[in-house]
Amino acid sequence: MKKVTVVGAGNVGATAAQRLAEKELADVVLVDIVEGVPQGKALDLNEAAPIEKHDAYLVGTNIYEDTKDSEIVIITAGIPRKPGMSRDDLISTNAGIMKSVTREIVKQSPDAVIIIVSNPLDAMCHVAFDASGFPKNRVIGMAGVLDSARFRAFIAMELGVSVENTHAFVLGGHGDTMVPLPRYSTVAGIPITELMSEDRINALVNRTRNGGAEIVSLLKTGSAYYAPASAAVEMAEAILKDKKKILPCAAYLEGEYGINGLFIGVPVKLGKNGIEEIIQITLTADEQKALNRSADAVKELVETLKKL
Ligand code: NAI
Ligand code: 2OP
Repeated sequence: MKKVTVVGAGNVGATAAQRLAEKELADVVLVDIVEGVPQGKALDLNEAAPIEKHDAYLVGTNIYEDTKDSEIVIITAGIPRKPGMSRDDLISTNAGIMKSVTREIVKQSPDAVIIIVSNPLDAMCHVAFDASGFPKNRVIGMAGVLDSARFRAFIAMELGVSVENTHAFVLGGHGDTMVPLPRYSTVAGIPITELMSEDRINALVNRTRNGGAEIVSLLKTGSAYYAPASAAVEMAEAILKDKKKILPCAAYLEGEYGINGLFIGVPVKLGKNGIEEIIQITLTADEQKALNRSADAVKELVETLKKL
């Protein structure tokens, strides 16, 4: 079986490990800095395997040698948001964690594809990209799949249709300036602009932009993890199975969409080499303006990183 490492055995990491194993996508190595937690969660999941009927095996560890030769490494290590905190408040703590984790990972798995989850997402992609020295196709951020899944869920709830009929695109940074694209969001192929009033679309767009904060304000002690784990695993599955699946992910742009030297959410094709293509869709002047605004917000965070 293939091997996937998940760094951070917290809410997102442990749930991602569970989904990877239950879908029998790979054997999973779960790493955390806290002793006992990854071992305990891996053992608990292995004990569920006979009932869940999978032969994926999980190893919990605090030692990076155990991650050797992983095909994919999903990094969720870091601290999550608490009520009143923005994703950006996490930057200095999580940048330090991201740098040290990435260095350990690349020593053991020089050919892996890295999927970043830790926040602030776009800035953490820059940290991992720099610390890994990997080519840009093998450093990918998870945000757009989650944000568009939220948009899809809200569209399905609003119209009373199956979530499977929905498609949505959310571009830009994983922050308040993210750019949901109603024109490219559809139900059974029909753009939602044909199915809903502008007011209702705006309400769903705003709920999507605040989707992370809505969960934080309900949970109070942390942030969302079921949907984030599903999103990271969808990306991992596309890579492991070389599916050539088009998904919105944070990718390092070099001129695409008029943006240079920045990680930002755009549609990409995911296959065995990670990002195999950046898909350029035509944006209206307003959409491009919103994407530029989002890119400016990411740029500001990257500047903050340089001062740390
Ligand atoms: P959590 O607190 O439940 O888990 C984080 C884990 O990281 C903890 O078990 C902690 O011990 C571990 N950790 C800390 N430092 C470490 C190190 N140096 N090496 C290895 N492990 C280390 O947090 P949760 O909810 O799992 O969130 C994880 C991160 O993912 C947060 O930064 C959160 O903001 C982010 N996130 C990002 C999303 C996205 O859309 N990109 C969505 C959801 C969460
Ligand atoms: C989310 O969107 C907090 O980034 C995390 O749920």
